[in-house]
Amino acid sequence: MTIDKQTTVTKATSPIPVMDYEGSNYRQAFWEGQGREYEDLVERVVLKQIMPLSGRRIAEIGAGFGRLADLYTGYEQIILFDYSRTLLADAVARWGSDPRFVFVAGNIYELPLASGTLDTLIMLRVMHHLADVPTAIKQLERVLHRQSLALIEYANKRNIKSIGRWALQQQEWSPFEPQPVEFVKLNYDFHPKWMEAQFAKSGLAIERRFALSHFRLPLLKRLISAEKLVKIEQSFVEFSGRFPLAPSALVTARSSHPRVAHSVGVDRQSVAMLFRCPQCGAEAFTQIVVDRLQCTACNHVYQQHNQIWDFKEAVQ
Ligand SMILES: C[S@@+](CC[C@H](N)C(=O)[O-])C[C@H]1O[C@@H](n2cnc3c(N)ncnc32)[C@H](O)[C@@H]1O
Ligand SMILES: [Zn+2]
Repeated sequence: MTIDKQTTVTKATSPIPVMDYEGSNYRQAFWEGQGREYEDLVERVVLKQIMPLSGRRIAEIGAGFGRLADLYTGYEQIILFDYSRTLLADAVARWGSDPRFVFVAGNIYELPLASGTLDTLIMLRVMHHLADVPTAIKQLERVLHRQSLALIEYANKRNIKSIGRWALQQQEWSPFEPQPVEFVKLNYDFHPKWMEAQFAKSGLAIERRFALSHFRLPLLKRLISAEKLVKIEQSFVEFSGRFPLAPSALVTARSSHPRVAHSVGVDRQSVAMLFRCPQCGAEAFTQIVVDRLQCTACNHVYQQHNQIWDFKEAVQ
């Protein structure tokens, strides 16, 4: 723990299990030199096509080490939010000298961002770790306002590979069953119908649907360059989103609530207004010193340490 040993530490409140990437070398172990250029490229190309490339405030939820952060540099403020301080520290090393970036550690289930603050929300490769999707997406909806756009990816259980395995009786669970499947601890695949029902219940209205990573096959990736595969796939990502059969599905969504945009500025002095207390849910912080925020409702204090605002634990 990197927090001052002198201070009392209050754990955040959520009892929902979390896939903990603390101490992980995710960037090196999963992306660098691991033959995933195609997966990375297809996500970038599709995001670039469908997200607003500029605006006031964007946040990536579960941003990890900030793999996609270069796509956000048209924004006045860029929030990289993640549960893992280790991965955020990696993002700080790359982006910490750019004053537009705000690094935030916390748990999606008690998302420490104030309501209606985001103009654009991005979440990729995170849903598949969530044990409680309804609670998480209610939080995502809350931080949007009536003009915001959210781009959210999830792992699709009804993909061709799982259909094939199931047909050959090499897989017990049916890809057509609506319930999520936990195929490895805290790793879930979701049925598009089930996922869309959760969005609707949380007040998120889906606008566009995409299916991604159709060519996630080792042999194909060895034979054909990532650029070529993505060029081919680009032409049908939205069409195939109508009935996703790829391992990854991506939707754009808006809040169906007429919430007005929060007026918090993008300057450093406004940072207290950007956050919501994970302990009590109040949006009432005061900045007691430059790197500490106190909740005026429950008095918990959170600190910024090595450029990361840490809402995983209160320091007093
Ligand atoms: C597979 S990584 C993806 C990282 C990044 N989105 C990317 O595509 O490179 C999953 C990320 O989700 C984060 N995560 C998982 N559960 C979370 C939670 N409950 N709250 C916040 N972040 C979470 C992890 O810390 C990790 O960085
Ligand atoms: Zn509080």
